Amino acid sequence: MLNFASVHSTSLTFTQTLYRLLAHPEYLEPLRQEVEAVVAEEGWTKAGMDKMHKIDSFVRETQRIDGPIIFGLNRLALAPFTFSNGVTIPAGTLFGLPVHSVHTDDELYPDAQEFDGFRFLKLREKEGDDVLAARHQTVTTSAELLGFGLGRHSCPGRFLAANEVKALLAHILVTYNVKFEEGKGIPRELRIASFRAPRNANILFRKRQR
Ligand code: HEM
Repeated sequence: MLNFASVHSTSLTFTQTLYRLLAHPEYLEPLRQEVEAVVAEEGWTKAGMDKMHKIDSFVRETQRIDGPIIFGLNRLALAPFTFSNGVTIPAGTLFGLPVHSVHTDDELYPDAQEFDGFRFLKLREKEGDDVLAARHQTVTTSAELLGFGLGRHSCPGRFLAANEVKALLAHILVTYNVKFEEGKGIPRELRIASFRAPRNANILFRKRQR
């Protein structure tokens, strides 16, 4: 269970993010430029990772739209509980949240079915205050973005995982030119009950001349 929660979740997320990048090559250059500028200033450090706002937005948007959990965050009611809409569940009820439906709700996200790699960057820039802006970064949980869960049992590994995914993506961007093999795109996802995972794809890597 721990392997699945930590290792596979991270590699799935990274694979989905890489697929999205290759499917939307217009992001390659702006993301690459961000990495080069930040690394020149901060080196490959935690402080640098925190400054990669474009990469962060791209990862969060991938998690919003492709995240592995379609339905999840299962909970067991230990006592009767009444939700804000008046629905009451008795003690002993097992319930969960429709994560993907929340993530693709147009009332929460305009054009929710569309992938917009800078969706969260734009929200972040609108805030004009670092504390409020932090609400839109990958590691921040909320009722609208459930990829790392919510509340007391939200993912404790998300700070590590987000940095791993961002660092891998940043490294690939500055080291290689990457693309899907000719005529191919994101493969059809694999669905297992309320869970989904990326299928295999061939990706071409060519070392960049610097
Ligand atoms: C991108 C990668 C990851 C994703 C998408 C992810 C997602 C999640 C989700 C959705 C939950 C359930 C939260 C809830 O029910 O509210 C969870 C819980 C958990 N995750 Fe992660 N996780 C990731 C990486 C990691 C890593 C790297 C570790 C450990 C190093 C980790 C350790 C845990 C643990 C121990 C829990 C259970 C927490 C609890 O029940 O209190 N996860 N994760």
